[in-house]
Amino acid sequence: MTLTHDEIHHPFLVKSYLSDLQSHVQLSLVSQPFTIPLHRRKMKGILRMSNWHVSETTFNPQQRQFHETVYTIGNGYLGTRGTFEEGYPVAAPLTLVHGLFDAVPIVHTELVNAPNWLHLTILIDGEHFRLDRGELLAYHRELDLATGTLTRMVRWRSPAGHTVELVFERFTSLADIHVLGLTCQFTSVDFSGTVEVRAGLPGHVDNDGRLHWEWRGQGSPDEQSAYLTVETKESQLVLSEACQLSLEGAFEPTYAFQNGSWTPTVVACTRVEPGQSFTAKKIVTLFTSRESEDVQASALDKLAEASAQGYMALRAANDAAWEREWGRCNILIEGDDEADQALRYSLFQLLIAAPRHDDRVSIAAKTLSGLGYHGHVFWDTEIFMLPFFIYTQPELARNMLLYRYHTLPGARRVAAAQGYAGALFAWESADTGDESTPRWVPTSDGDLIRIWCGDIELHIVADVAYAVHHYWQVTGDDDFLRDYGAEIFLETALFWASRVEWNAERALYEIKDVIGPDENHEHVDNNAFTNRMASWNLQEAVNTLSWLRRHYPEKATALEEQLELTEEQLAHWREIIKKIYLPYDPETGLIEQFEGFFDLISVDFAEYEPRKTSMQALLGVAETQAYQVLKQADVLMLLYLLAAEYDLATIKANWDYYTPRTDLTYGSSLGPAIQATLAAQMGELKVAYEHFILAARTDLEDVRGNAWAGIHGASAGGLWQAVIFGFGGVREEEGRLVAHPQLPSGWTRLKFQLQYRGEWYAFDLSA
Ligand code: BGC
Repeated sequence: MTLTHDEIHHPFLVKSYLSDLQSHVQLSLVSQPFTIPLHRRKMKGILRMSNWHVSETTFNPQQRQFHETVYTIGNGYLGTRGTFEEGYPVAAPLTLVHGLFDAVPIVHTELVNAPNWLHLTILIDGEHFRLDRGELLAYHRELDLATGTLTRMVRWRSPAGHTVELVFERFTSLADIHVLGLTCQFTSVDFSGTVEVRAGLPGHVDNDGRLHWEWRGQGSPDEQSAYLTVETKESQLVLSEACQLSLEGAFEPTYAFQNGSWTPTVVACTRVEPGQSFTAKKIVTLFTSRESEDVQASALDKLAEASAQGYMALRAANDAAWEREWGRCNILIEGDDEADQALRYSLFQLLIAAPRHDDRVSIAAKTLSGLGYHGHVFWDTEIFMLPFFIYTQPELARNMLLYRYHTLPGARRVAAAQGYAGALFAWESADTGDESTPRWVPTSDGDLIRIWCGDIELHIVADVAYAVHHYWQVTGDDDFLRDYGAEIFLETALFWASRVEWNAERALYEIKDVIGPDENHEHVDNNAFTNRMASWNLQEAVNTLSWLRRHYPEKATALEEQLELTEEQLAHWREIIKKIYLPYDPETGLIEQFEGFFDLISVDFAEYEPRKTSMQALLGVAETQAYQVLKQADVLMLLYLLAAEYDLATIKANWDYYTPRTDLTYGSSLGPAIQATLAAQMGELKVAYEHFILAARTDLEDVRGNAWAGIHGASAGGLWQAVIFGFGGVREEEGRLVAHPQLPSGWTRLKFQLQYRGEWYAFDLSA
């Protein structure tokens, strides 16, 4: 690692460089102002970034929650929001572990907040270090995307007038997912006396007031270590965390174990003199009964192993794992720092949420970064996030598709409960695949509104099948298709075949009473997206069965028997494919979003500007149904997914019609990136870029004001698609990948690599 001129002027980078070298040199931060490199352009919010960093130089309690989301770190096993080690009034630390669900009324089940491993409090001559007390003299927080580490530097004067500097660092190891670590380098500016450091594992955490844990045990194997074991009330999943605290400085520390209620804590005491420093290191391990039979023993064994390695070695292994990760996934955009940074940040958020060692979990809509949507998985994963993994880390994409395969029993129950055959994937899916969408949610006025998505937003079924096909096409993983994918195709086809209705008058099959991707309109008939994707799903089921019969006849027979597939059934599928109703006006080339959409009231959005909320909120939830106001792309989404079937004129006609009717800024965050991709494919680069940048700012600039609830994973995945399939123009042609780049103005270079059928393709594109 070499340092650039800017980096040398950045104490944080100097520090991490030194720690890379395992140096124990103390930085003289006392006499230096915090220097922010000049190339860090000020953005609209207070977040500043370099290409590999997201940082802030002021602490704004008003934006605390939004920034807690932004500074989430993770390792594909768990995610931890950016709350402070020492706590802050009303701040709720949040660590979510994949698959750790527990039952809860209304929303069925939710990911449970794990005991707070970040806990580290510091007392300076008995005074608690806290940002809501004393005087904050300087502040800088920075997320390093290259290594997944979060650092924070604070210069603080206590109420009694002692000035100190603290540099915190934390990481969740990508090299060993059960290992977490944090350090605090403490420097006294003018204080001489005793400092106490407490490192605990507080277990009395909740999910927005909902309590999920029962205490199972705590203790201390030695005076520097502690552990806590808890169990979820309903699902009876056990979790154990263990930690070890060590202090390195000029004076010999003393250690003691404090057996606080639900909070086993190691307390270390030392002395400092002005100008002196010490470093507190907390190594934490975490296991759940999902991967270990004796979680406590696993956590303690791992702690002994990790402590023997030491913090520096654990960090080095983490950094090396991240280097490998970025070697496959990084994308370089030259000429547009904001795009380059925002894209890398989005990929980082996807990478820290992707399960690497577990195929029974998948990425939730809000990843592992917030309680929004309770950790439930939507179509966001298969349609928006998965392509990034399919082309860069297909083994992770496979894990997530296997998650859907494992939820087939749940999906069969969902279909059967509605009186249908086959598998109906849950609109909101959790551990079992049973439907987890809440039926009712309270509005801000306290009224309850009925949520119909769990009953009738059926397109999820075809979305999952689409992702299976996409994965197979790109990887050529025939084993996966034979062993898992084929069953998904056939089960979903059985569902559609039982769900369609024959309209004798029209002599066509219909799908009535659904919600399409645009959730502003409920209980619609013949939603074009749903109908066309259903027939696509049926066609792929037919194709897959023929493929299976040709290549793996025994597997074909086994599945035919298991699913009781008959020739009549297959003939019925072919009939539906031929005769499904697709609302389309050949004169204009317009596809009608659903029957009757063209007759709804059209609205000029400009009349509602300036606004800070969705059109639906302004018009009213029930009232919006009567208007041509889309929450997100619906017909355009269809044209995007099945692009090969539509000519440019059709895409353009529908784009022109639907875009002004779509609430891009305050509707769904899923829309803009996909619209950007389509616009780029149409050659409308300026418009494409406008949509792209709107998606890029979703979380970093909190465009919708809801980033506090968690990262918008679908938007992050969509951004990757906009760059690769939109501006990069990547397409499959004659069995290989070809790029037809159309770079937005200012982009001088776009560099990335993709895997296709086992081969890596490196693209280095210029304007
Ligand atoms: C969107 C859905 C999306 C869900 C989760 C909703 O607001 O309309 O398409 O799946 O959020 O992100």
